[in-house]
Amino acid sequence: MLNYCRIDLTHFGEVDGLQLNRYPMPSLTKGQVLIKTHYSGINPIDVKTRAGLGWAAQQNADRLPWALGYDAAGQVIAVGEGVDEAWLGQPVCGMLGFPLEAGCYGSVRATDVSDLQVIPQRIHPMQAAALPLAGLTAHQALFEHGQAKAGQRVLILGASGGVGHLALQLAADAGCEVIAVASAQRGPLLQQLGANQALDYRSDWLEGLAPVDLLLDLVGGDAGIQAVAKVKASGRVVTVPTVTADDVIAAAKSRTIDATGMLVHPCGDSLQHLLQLVSDNKLTIEVDSCYPAQSVAEAHLHLEQGQVCGKLVLNWCQ
Ligand SMILES: NC(=O)c1ccc[n+]([C@@H]2O[C@H](COP(=O)([O-])OP(=O)(O)OC[C@H]3O[C@@H](n4cnc5c(N)ncnc54)[C@H](OP(=O)(O)O)[C@@H]3O)[C@@H](O)[C@H]2O)c1
Repeated sequence: MLNYCRIDLTHFGEVDGLQLNRYPMPSLTKGQVLIKTHYSGINPIDVKTRAGLGWAAQQNADRLPWALGYDAAGQVIAVGEGVDEAWLGQPVCGMLGFPLEAGCYGSVRATDVSDLQVIPQRIHPMQAAALPLAGLTAHQALFEHGQAKAGQRVLILGASGGVGHLALQLAADAGCEVIAVASAQRGPLLQQLGANQALDYRSDWLEGLAPVDLLLDLVGGDAGIQAVAKVKASGRVVTVPTVTADDVIAAAKSRTIDATGMLVHPCGDSLQHLLQLVSDNKLTIEVDSCYPAQSVAEAHLHLEQGQVCGKLVLNWCQ
């Protein structure tokens, strides 16, 4: 019988909980397609969930073994009832099963066809796998929650990370003045991606910084709280890491500044728009490292230790 590989989370904790297992091919329900995954994206939430932290871990505690992962890019290899056969062979990507189902750490993934976008020809599937969750988060944080507009000063904390490097380009493209905060070594890249100023978070970077209209906090905790001091009274704070969102929001509210947390949601139109920007060379996806799928433990350790510039992905084609 045909089968496929899946990286199971067998128990919460260290990376030894990640195990590659084989399963019979999934059957498709009405409206679904089967993707042969070429690449899966890795996100910090995967690492936190593996460690047993957060809502997705709590909700799935009784469902182990269970597969992590919300980003997949590959090719449609089967269609279920009611799906046009023209989908067969199409290169596709999507943010799938967020936040409770996940399941993109596998060599195939069954999903509703409506969850998928066709990857434009000029985009490599590795980039397409790196884009959905981080790109949608960046877009929604800036424009839905932050209401970023041309001419505004936007401070991005964590600007070299998966979400940050995309947010900085989207903000610059929208005509914002972007102040990007990351480690010193990322300065040249941040400026190349469109930052007006690149600041090193290990320096006294807050000193002398003029107030901003929008703080996009991708780091949270004390770093997020301290940065609130630089937001104009009429400004706005969007804090993305959920674990410390209440603390950062409280710091902003104590200065009567508008502040919100957020949870990314799937949006086909926005993902298509982001893919088009990449295809048109208006948005660059930095892939820091691509690991063979069987080296998922190494990839998790890399993300956990920090110093990732852009995104990490898993390769299922090797
Ligand atoms: N709520 C949601 O829906 C949602 C969605 C997506 C992500 N998130 C969360 O948002 C956060 C960012 O995600 P991500 O994928 O961009 O993470 P990431 O790729 O791990 O990026 C984090 C970046 O933060 C930088 N950094 C670390 N400490 C810093 C500091 N004190 N000041 C400024 N920058 C600092 C690091 O830069 P260096 O490498 O240069 O040190 C790193 O590049 C994570 O906590 C993630 O879980 C939430």
